[in-house]
Amino acid sequence: MAYTKIFEPLSFRNLTIKNRILRSNVAGRFDNYDGTGAQPRINWEVKFARGGVGAILSSFVPVHPRGRILPNYATIVSDDRVPFWRELGRQVHAHDCKYILQLSHGGRQRDIPTIDYPKGLSSTSRPDPLHGFECEAMTLAQIRETVQAFAEGARRARDAGLDGVELHGANGYLITQFLSSAINDRSDEYGGILANRAKFVREIVQAIRARVGRDFHLQMKISATEFNDALLPGEAPGNTIADSIQVCQWLKDDGVDAIHVSSGSSFPHPKNPAGDLPIEELRKTYDSLISSGLLTLRNYLLFVGKLTGAAFKERWEDARGPKDRIEGLNLADARAIKQAIAPIPVVCTGGFQTGEIIEEAIARGDCDAVSIARPLIANNDLVQQFARGVGRPANPCTYCNNCLVNAPENPLGCYDETRFPSREAMVQEILSVYTPQTFQ
Ligand SMILES: Cc1cc2nc3c(=O)[nH]c(=O)nc-3n(C[C@H](O)[C@H](O)[C@H](O)COP(=O)(O)O)c2cc1C
Ligand code: SF4
Repeated sequence: MAYTKIFEPLSFRNLTIKNRILRSNVAGRFDNYDGTGAQPRINWEVKFARGGVGAILSSFVPVHPRGRILPNYATIVSDDRVPFWRELGRQVHAHDCKYILQLSHGGRQRDIPTIDYPKGLSSTSRPDPLHGFECEAMTLAQIRETVQAFAEGARRARDAGLDGVELHGANGYLITQFLSSAINDRSDEYGGILANRAKFVREIVQAIRARVGRDFHLQMKISATEFNDALLPGEAPGNTIADSIQVCQWLKDDGVDAIHVSSGSSFPHPKNPAGDLPIEELRKTYDSLISSGLLTLRNYLLFVGKLTGAAFKERWEDARGPKDRIEGLNLADARAIKQAIAPIPVVCTGGFQTGEIIEEAIARGDCDAVSIARPLIANNDLVQQFARGVGRPANPCTYCNNCLVNAPENPLGCYDETRFPSREAMVQEILSVYTPQTFQ
């Protein structure tokens, strides 16, 4: 079948991309401990550019050293980081692919606290209920400093010749921690009613526009429905789609050019990335979640205990919903947001890997484009397969989430051994990101 919608160019206010498939953000520990960029990240991004996606949404890129969630992620915290991003952009652009950098701050939600800032900052002083790392509620001076850090990050991305920026306003990181009715417990002008909780992100958007002007692409990734009570008893549900529609309307007024729809108030979350919970693999790689936070015993039982681990896996997969509904699971939210903020384009993430499903979602007007993470990790050439009329890859992503749980410790890549002729072949593919290597 010819996928005409998928291969129609998409114009945002300040940017046009050649088709409707964006590589979704995927963070991996490819860089140096101090957050300077390294060649493997460039090699990794080029794989997807070569595979034909219209644009790449970068990994989580911290705008401030205190916003890091793991060591070895390239940051954009100072001007000396600009040449790395410029070189990365240059190599991606060589494949007629655009590059949008995800401006991020982890707040209280981190995977490994770094040695420089053992405590995170947040809208609250409550540790996050999944990871259990300690944090401090931000002072007004810290809020002002962080807003400026986002604006400087956008300015550096523009100076590096990249094509735009995305605010990571989803999945439980700092912007979500302010937006969320379940997390934000402030009593000042940044907490309470939705308008107050949205003040932080609106100030960021306004600061970015003041710094880079109106003609640089700016989009925002949002957890449209938070499902904050999906897993842990006693938690409130968090923001609903109605709350997020209002936030997106404000963001439109403030000058945001597109919305990227996700879900879930934490990362990971049963609904994002929706799939299995490979508990045996996770217990090898999520050590720091056991040993560094305040929830050592509980997380040890959840991840390592035989019975408790099995119960946790079952609860996670129940909260995710049926496996055959993973593909396009955020489409209803994307549609509701698209209708409310037209003509601003909406990109939807979550499970996409079948040509017909993507084509129909765009044709129905549920979204203008989709972003894909795991199915593109599994098949870097997925877009070229669609271009050849292949509807579903012969060796698809199984949503096993082994890539996800390996990411805190091992190089990012597909870790589903059943997809490879041998374990050696899988390892070879994972390590291919280290070639070519240059001395820097
Ligand atoms: C290993 C891994 C790393 C991810 N890193 C990020 C990230 O840095 N920023 C982000 O917004 N989302 C991140 N995500 C979420 C993806 O961008 C995507 O929205 C989600 O996986 C659903 O899409 P998929 O079903 O196509 O994988 C990550 C997902 C995976 C599996
Ligand atoms: S490990 Fe491979 S098959 Fe499993 S979810 Fe990740 S990309 Fe898909």
